[in-house]
Amino acid sequence: MSGDSKERYGSISRLFHWGMSFLIGWQLLKFFDRIADGEHWVGETLVPWHISIGSLLLVLVLLRILWAARQRNNRPEQDPATAFLVKAGHFLLYAGMVAMPITGVMYMIGSGYGWQPFGIELAARNGEEIAWMASVGSLHSPIAWLLTILIAGHIGITLLHHFVKKDGVLRRML
Ligand code: HEM
Ligand code: HEM
Repeated sequence: MSGDSKERYGSISRLFHWGMSFLIGWQLLKFFDRIADGEHWVGETLVPWHISIGSLLLVLVLLRILWAARQRNNRPEQDPATAFLVKAGHFLLYAGMVAMPITGVMYMIGSGYGWQPFGIELAARNGEEIAWMASVGSLHSPIAWLLTILIAGHIGITLLHHFVKKDGVLRRML
């Protein structure tokens, strides 16, 4: 079944969730650039895809938001005691998923590097700095740290549900 139901997330929501989790995990490997200026296996084989995968994630998150809006009355119910916190947590995950690619693009264009995802020139490299755009773009790194903490918390809470509360929350996303 492709749509969501009160019992579980449907196949499209699950594909968005796990596909994007994989790609975001890949994007976080960019932190490895901090080691030896990226001159190692991770930096040389996986990280060079950062701009292209990040740009793909921008498209995916917009589609995912449209999909989530269509499914909003049709998703598994949250425990009323913590529903507000769960909604706030999921909202912040979405905010991070939107803010990361937008600030990444602003960093590139604002620094005059242009934007060429998958070799398609969406903005030319011209060496001209746009100060305001570069300064919004400089939030890319701090937001990456916040998103990483949020994701770690999200995974931790999921494991707590699965192994301690044993309430089937993980199963409805599998
Ligand atoms: C969901 C999407 C994205 C995630 C999760 C992500 C994550 C990251 C992370 C973790 C870093 C390392 C930060 C640090 O070491 O402090 C980084 C750096 C960087 N990202 Fe992204 N990124 C995403 C999308 C993009 C996009 C779309 C672009 C450009 C079009 C981009 C351009 C950059 C650049 C240029 C850096 C290096 C910044 C610097 O050296 O200060 N990112 N990103
Ligand atoms: C980059 C990593 C991740 C992000 C950004 C993320 C984001 C989200 C978001 C936004 C939702 C709300 C449902 C939706 O709109 O799709 C969600 C639900 C969920 N996530 Fe993740 N997730 C990530 C990784 C994981 C991982 C690794 C696990 C498992 C350990 C996990 C387990 C779940 C579960 C069980 C739900 C359903 C919770 C509920 O009952 O509503 N997530 N996730």
